Order: sequence, then C-alpha cells, then structure tokens
Amino acid sequence: MKAIEIREKYLNFFEKHGHKIIPSAPLIPENDSSVLFTTAGMQPLVPYLLGEKHPEGTRLTDYQKCLRTNDIDEVGDNRHLTYFEMLGNWSLGDYFKEESIQMSYDFLTQELNIPSEKISVTCFAGDEDCPRDEITANCWKRAGIPEERIYFYGKDDNWWIAGETGPCGADTEMFYDTGKEPCGPDCQPSCDCGKYVEIWNNVFMEFYRNEDGSYSKLKQHNVDTGMGLERIAFILQGKETPFDIEIFEPVMSKLQELSKNDNIESRRIATEHLRASIMISADGERPSNVDRGYILRRLIRRMTRHISKLGVDLNCLSDLIDLNIDTLKELYPYLEQKRELIKEVIVGEKDKFIKTLARGEKEFNKVIDRIKSQGKDIIDSKSIFKLYETYGFPPEVTKDLATENGMKVDMNEINELFKEHQNKSRAGSEQKFKGGLSSSGEMETKYHTATHLLNAALKIIVNKDCHQRGSNITSERMRFDFNCDHKLTPEEKQATEDLVNKWIDDDLVVSHTEMEKQKAIDSGAECMFVERYPDIVTVYTIGEVSKEICGGPHVNRTSELGHFKIKKEEASSAGIRRIKAVLVHEN
Ligand code: SER
Repeated sequence: MKAIEIREKYLNFFEKHGHKIIPSAPLIPENDSSVLFTTAGMQPLVPYLLGEKHPEGTRLTDYQKCLRTNDIDEVGDNRHLTYFEMLGNWSLGDYFKEESIQMSYDFLTQELNIPSEKISVTCFAGDEDCPRDEITANCWKRAGIPEERIYFYGKDDNWWIAGETGPCGADTEMFYDTGKEPCGPDCQPSCDCGKYVEIWNNVFMEFYRNEDGSYSKLKQHNVDTGMGLERIAFILQGKETPFDIEIFEPVMSKLQELSKNDNIESRRIATEHLRASIMISADGERPSNVDRGYILRRLIRRMTRHISKLGVDLNCLSDLIDLNIDTLKELYPYLEQKRELIKEVIVGEKDKFIKTLARGEKEFNKVIDRIKSQGKDIIDSKSIFKLYETYGFPPEVTKDLATENGMKVDMNEINELFKEHQNKSRAGSEQKFKGGLSSSGEMETKYHTATHLLNAALKIIVNKDCHQRGSNITSERMRFDFNCDHKLTPEEKQATEDLVNKWIDDDLVVSHTEMEKQKAIDSGAECMFVERYPDIVTVYTIGEVSKEICGGPHVNRTSELGHFKIKKEEASSAGIRRIKAVLVHEN
C-alpha cells in the first residue's frame, strides 16, 4: 500500500468515526516559540488539549508535517529520518481509552489488514505520579490482544510529553513483529534489535507537567495519537527500511545510477536531507546562521557533501530536486507552485558551500595530520569550530569526515560550543539593535514604541494570535512582520491604524519594570523568542493596552509619537505579513 493510500484510509476511517479532518499546520510553528519546528501532530493543538474549544469539535484527525533534528547525525542508518509525516487522531475531552484502543485495533487489523498476532502492545507500569495502567491493558484484551503480548514499562517508554513542561500522560504503543528471530530470551518490544517496530502511539493526556516537575490534572482527558507514515508504509510494503518506499525510491535509484561507488549511507543521507530541505524551504524558511535557518543550512550542506562523496556531479542537484518534487507532489500538491523557489534556495546554498568545500577539506586534512602526529584520535572541538567559522563546515560534516578517517569527535561538546556561539551572536545582534536605537535617538525610539502599539492593535483588529515575527526600524520608517493567514482587508488596515492613533491620542503612560522571565510570560507579556531573553527581563507596559518583554528604549507617553500611518501591507514569506508604517509629525 502506497503512503498516500495509507494516509487516505487513515483520515477516512477516523472521519467515519466522527472526526473532523483538519489541515496540517506548517512545519514552522505559528504561535509557539518554544520549538523551532513542529515535531508532533499534537503541537499545534496544545491550546485545545488544555481546554480551549476547537472550532471543529472534540474529535479531530489530520496528517502533520514534522521535523525532528535531535538525531540528525544518525540519519544514514536504516531508520532515522529528520522530516516525517505523522498521522494522528485526537479526542479533546471526548472518548478515552476504551474507544481509542478499539479504533486503533480495528484500523490496524481491518483497514491495514495486519494480522492480530503480529501486534504487541505496551502500557504504563505505574509510579508515584500515575497508577499502573491496567485499564488500558484490559481494553487491549477485550479488543483481541492476549496477555502474553501486552507489556508494561515505566516513564522512559510509556509516558509522553513534548519537552519539559506541558500536557502529557501515560501512553500505549503498538508494535509490529517483523518475524525476525528474537535477539535472545529477553527479546521484547522495548529492545532495539529490530524484531519489533513501533507503529503507533496513543497518549492518554490527562496531566500537565509543571516547571517544578510536579503534575497537575488537566481540565479534560484527551487522547493524542501518532503514527509515522513512512514507517507504517515500509512495514506494509514488506520493505526493510523507509528508504525502500516510493517516497524515497526514485531519488535513491537516481543517485545509485549516477554514483561512482556503492555508499548506501551517503545515498540515504543525501536523499533524506534533500526531502527535508525541500519541505522546510517550501514552508518559507531560508538558510542562515541561526535557529531554523541554521538547521536548513546544515541539511543542505551535509546533503551536498554526501552527493559529492558519491562522485555525483553537483550540477545535477536541480534535476534531483525536480525528481523529488515530482514524487512528493502526490502527497503535497502545493510543492508544484514552489518548485522554482525551492530550487533557488537549495541550489543557491549548495553553490555557497562548494566554494568553501575544497578549501575546508584541505584544512581538515591538516587538522587530522596534526592530531594523528600527536598520537590521538579525537578531534578537539576548537578545531571543529574553526572549520565551521572559517569554512562554513557544519559539525555533522566534520563528524562524517572524521569517521571516514578513523577519527572521533565528541558531538555533545560540539553542540554545547555551538549553542554558546549562537547565544553570543544573538546577544550581539540585540546589542547592535539596542545600541543603534539609543545612539540614533528620538525617531527610532518613537518607532520602537509604535511597534508595540501596532503589535497590540493587530491582536484586537485582526486576530488575537497575531505575533511579531520580525521588526526593523530606521529613523525614516518602521517595518513589522507578523503571522497572519491572509492579506489584510482595507477595513482591517484602517481599523488597525485608527486604533494605534486612538492610543496615541489617549496619551498613555509608558512604564517599565524588571522581573523574572517566567513571571513576565505568565503575566501575559508578549515575548517574541522566549529562549533569547535572559532570566531577568525588562517588561514595558503602555497604559493597559500593551505589555512586552523588551530592551527599550521607549518614549514616556504615547502622545509624543505624532500620527501613525500604514504605508504598505504585503506578504513577507509563507504565513507572514509585513507592514511598513511611518510616524508623521503633525505639529
Ligand atoms: N504525541 C505523540 C507522539 O509524538 C503521539 O502523537 O508520539
């Protein structure tokens, strides 16, 4: 069964069981700055899991585009992927364990025709936070799974939460028995030998994990399930790895045809990273040195290196992208419209990288000669960092090169160093921004305050979920980017402008105070990038209309701003609009 058919079967099945099909959210989270990319189907639904009413009701189903980068340097083996699609269904305070398990069992055995004996399940073993989940085990027995294929594990295996805090709960996982020989007498679903492959996870989300590690009960009990599309597809197709299914096969084969060697690991890395880069670029991200853009850059650069390692001419990248989009557009028809843009982004970044690749590899060889001559086999993180700073070598690329040369690197140490570096460059750019403002005076300060007013006005006029996504100020004008799914109507533009001018006329007081970051966020202060601020932050308040974490400076009273005028409203990137506005002095 092809992936697209599995997806259709899934959505239809749950629709038949009263679920509304909702669209996939973009890979780039819209209202959640706690993660760089959407990593699970539940992420865009967090407010509803916490009790907010979803406009489509209490039973939802979708496919969600996801990206997980924790294991980026594991890609190349037979199972790790960065980008994947997750099929999911949700109960928002509606059905719970019994119905969820019966539906899962029916879908697996009747729609996907998996023989019941091939399925094993795991349940939560219980601890001081939550009792042993006998209820779930009994549901499985009633559905048709005998006791000997029901396993109990602790929080490490059967408890699900995205990150450190948030909605969570005990889960039950379904495993497919590949029929391989058990690796020993203790071979179980939890073991890594490959006999059992996890195919679905149903989370019974009834708790919230607080900052201090304690758990509170949620207002409602939810079910959050997730099934990795590529994984279920390769299993149903009787293949060994996701790289053998129709989603990856054309690019894998093409690379094999063009390769001068039979390096399957490089083929997988290039194929996987190419698809991920296409999906990220299509959702509006561009390569850069920070955050999401840095991930995209790393994926493209690592892919580039593996294509050249295969001995494939890099000039064929554009054709490979075409081939990949031709394959993917069955699942994501919108890629067709973005074809040229995607090619520009990926080929452009490849070109940048190859300019430095040769020089970098030369430098790398010098580094290993030096280390080998010292009788060592670990490349120190400083050298790796230098390769990055001087030659744009992402650490994974250096790690790959090191492994090929029988050398090691400590990825944890590197990741720490990079985090530090990124924090520094962020602090640097904030500093520059701040410095620019304070040194250049009056007009910029006014625009800065106007930015806060505009941010607050858009929430009232357009959508309460509009948030700042970027801003740029000169003494002549302000530019403000925000998430929004439509072009503002003339009425919305006018009303936004009017509201900002009303607040200016109201002569509101602008005040600021310092507080702990978490307190500020809890009190509802607007905050663009949670992780970019220090633990103690300054919060600027304007009358009762705006509250934002911000470095300032600002005017003292809004009447100092003059008259606010929107000059232009346009698209900035996918889901992001841009407003250019000026302050005109009336007196
Ligand atoms: N959120 C759970 C997961 O990602 C179930 O969808 O596995």
